[in-house]
Amino acid sequence: MQYKFSSLAQNLKASEIRELLKYKNIPGMISLGGGMPHPSSFPVSDIMEITDDLLKREGREILQYGTTEGYEMLRVELSKFLKDTENIDCTKDDIVLSAGSQQALYAISKIMVTPGEEVITESPTYIGTITAFLANGTVMRGVQMDEEGLITELLEEKIKNMLSKGKPPKFIYVIPTFQNPSGRTLSLERRKHLLEIASRYQIPIIEDNPYGELRYSGQKLPSLKSMDTSGLVTYMGTFSKILTPGLRVGFTVAPREVVSKMNLLKQATNLATNTLAEAIAGEYLKRGLVKKNMPRVVQMYREKRDTMLAALSENFGEDATWSHPDGGMFLWLQLDSRINTTKMLPRALENKVAYVSGYSFYPDNPEYNTMRLNFTYADNDQIVTAIERLSKVVGQEAMMAK
Ligand SMILES: Cc1ncc(COP(=O)(O)O)c(C=O)c1O
Repeated sequence: MQYKFSSLAQNLKASEIRELLKYKNIPGMISLGGGMPHPSSFPVSDIMEITDDLLKREGREILQYGTTEGYEMLRVELSKFLKDTENIDCTKDDIVLSAGSQQALYAISKIMVTPGEEVITESPTYIGTITAFLANGTVMRGVQMDEEGLITELLEEKIKNMLSKGKPPKFIYVIPTFQNPSGRTLSLERRKHLLEIASRYQIPIIEDNPYGELRYSGQKLPSLKSMDTSGLVTYMGTFSKILTPGLRVGFTVAPREVVSKMNLLKQATNLATNTLAEAIAGEYLKRGLVKKNMPRVVQMYREKRDTMLAALSENFGEDATWSHPDGGMFLWLQLDSRINTTKMLPRALENKVAYVSGYSFYPDNPEYNTMRLNFTYADNDQIVTAIERLSKVVGQEAMMAK
């Protein structure tokens, strides 16, 4: 049988990160590639206790089909948690639950963008967003970043340019805090400027904030959602980095009309999400366990970040620059412009170190001399060894490029 797929299915492509997972089990391989939390961050015994209590108390309810919006107690707890951590005012009715925030990213492009229409993202941006948007035929236009995040002057130029071509952006997607892949954080001035531009041109903002609770240094900055006075911002979060990604629980706080469309789409795609997982996440919040458990995780990741930064300074010369993230899971390495990190990857894998080449993170106009390094998964001594191996591979590549 010769299958003839839709044009949309032809847009789907395998992510380099998923491909890299194959190499994870090769003996001696150290992967700085994936975006995985450290397994010791998972509160296994808390989850066991909560699950046991929940099943005893309300097993017959939470094993039933749930409502489309998602488990009510979790949405109530989330509205308190978001007020407490991000100063976001919302009620349970402003929240939609999803199978990770990845599903919400897919849903938002599906409900806001007709295939062929355009949106703006940071450049580089999260690879999963690129995949989700492409799967819906959404065209992405990237705006460059610097150490303070998205360059908002360039954003305005980009909007004007798109308007002049009759292609108004349907929304602006940003990861303002500890961005994936760059680790950079949008400064307060730029947050204000971004909101001002979005308001002036009446373009919605999608704020994706999976890493906000993973701060290792510096001052907390207000979320865009908490600064928004006119219903411009849709905010997305997840339990993947504050509890476990295996539960697949994400959430979106949005203006009511957006919530309503997301729920209609959810009815079409999965009726309801995983009620048991949502009940566990709700109970975890209710018992104050995020506040109790995160300091240990933050301390562990801070050490890992510092280990990687020190190893980079030790092993890389002036030809390389890298970001100095105040939080999150990633750091962005930029090499001599003659080095192509995609072409170099097989040699890195031969030397038993994996990374994700920067190329995959560009919504358009890719650069080839960049890479994303994850510092949360490997152990501290592995991080040091991995950076030594990487610098050796880069050194050989630089010799060949001369
Ligand atoms: C910026 C960003 N958004 C969304 C996600 C998706 O997270 P999840 O689907 O696990 O909630 C990730 C995962 O790494 C991410 O980095």
